[in-house]
Amino acid sequence: MQDVGCKWYGRTSLLSFILLSFSLLLVACAAPEPTAVSQVAPTSTVAVLAPADTATPFPTQGPPATLTPIPTITPSPTNTPTPTPTFTPTPSPTPTKTACDQRIPPQDDLLVIVSQEFGLSRAYEPADLVPIGPHFSRDITLGYPTMVREDVLDPLVNMVNTMLDAGLEPYIISGYRSYATQDATYNKWLNLEPDRADILSARPGHSEHQLGTTVDFGSYRLHDYIDDSFDEKLQFHTYFYKTPEGEWLQNNAHLYGFTLSYPRSAQEVTGFYYEPWHFRYVGVGNATALLEGGTSLTEYLLNQDPEPCLN
Ligand code: DAL
Ligand code: ZN
Repeated sequence: MQDVGCKWYGRTSLLSFILLSFSLLLVACAAPEPTAVSQVAPTSTVAVLAPADTATPFPTQGPPATLTPIPTITPSPTNTPTPTPTFTPTPSPTPTKTACDQRIPPQDDLLVIVSQEFGLSRAYEPADLVPIGPHFSRDITLGYPTMVREDVLDPLVNMVNTMLDAGLEPYIISGYRSYATQDATYNKWLNLEPDRADILSARPGHSEHQLGTTVDFGSYRLHDYIDDSFDEKLQFHTYFYKTPEGEWLQNNAHLYGFTLSYPRSAQEVTGFYYEPWHFRYVGVGNATALLEGGTSLTEYLLNQDPEPCLN
C-alpha cells in the first residue's frame, strides 16, 4: 500500500486540535490522489449495479395487450351520385299451356291434332254422338253399338252404301271410343304385343277415335289375302290394303271426306304402324287436298304449328 502523503503532529489542546484539523485539511487538498481509500465512493455518486438476482426479469407473456384500435378514417363524404333507377320490366305472365292430356277440341274443329304427343282430356266426349246401328244392317255393324259424330253419319252411310252397291263386302269395326274404352284397347295390345303396343295402339287420350270422327273398316275377304295364318276372329291385318275393300277406300274415301290417318309413308311422323283400315273424317276438301298432296293429316297438322301443350 502506498504511504499516506500527510504526517500527524499531535497536540492535546483544543486549539491545537482545531488548528491541526484545519491544517490537515489544507495538506490533504494538496496531497496526491488517494488510490486504495478511494474505493469507497460516496453512495450518492456511485451507480448501483443491481444484483443479478434482482435484475429485471425478462418480460413474461401477460394477457394480450389490448390493442387500441387504429382509428379508422371516416372518409369525408364524397359527392355520390344518386343512382339512376334501373328499369325492371314487369314480367309478362307465363303463357299457360294446356297439358297435353287435358285438351278439349272446339266442337266445330275437324282438324284438331291428336297424336302420340297431342292428347285429349279424359273427360272429353263429343256432344253430338249418334249411333250408326239404325242406318246399317247387322252385317255392317257386327252388332256393335258404334257411334260417330252427327256430321260424320251421312258421309259414312253414303260411302258404305256406295261400296255395297259396288259389290264390296265391308264392315265397320269401330267408331267413337271413349277414353276408358281406349284404355282397355291399349291394354289389350300391351298384353298381346308388349314390345309393339305403342306402334299398334294409341294410349288413352291419344286416339283419334275419341274424336268421334274416326272409323275402322274391315273386309269379309281379308282371309283370302292372308295365307300364313287363319284366325276367324282376325279383324286387323296390314293386308287389308290388298282387299278390294281396302283398295277402294284408299282410292275413294276422300270423296266422302275421309282420310287415311296412318299411311305406310308416314310411320316415322305418326309413330304408328301402317293402318290401311283407319279413316278419319275431315271434310271432302281437306281429305282431297291431303290425298293430292301426298301428305298425312298428322304431318299436315304438325306443319301448322299446333298450339304447344305440356307433356
Ligand atoms: N290404332 C290407332 C293408332 C288407335 O289406337 O287409335
Ligand atoms: Zn282406328
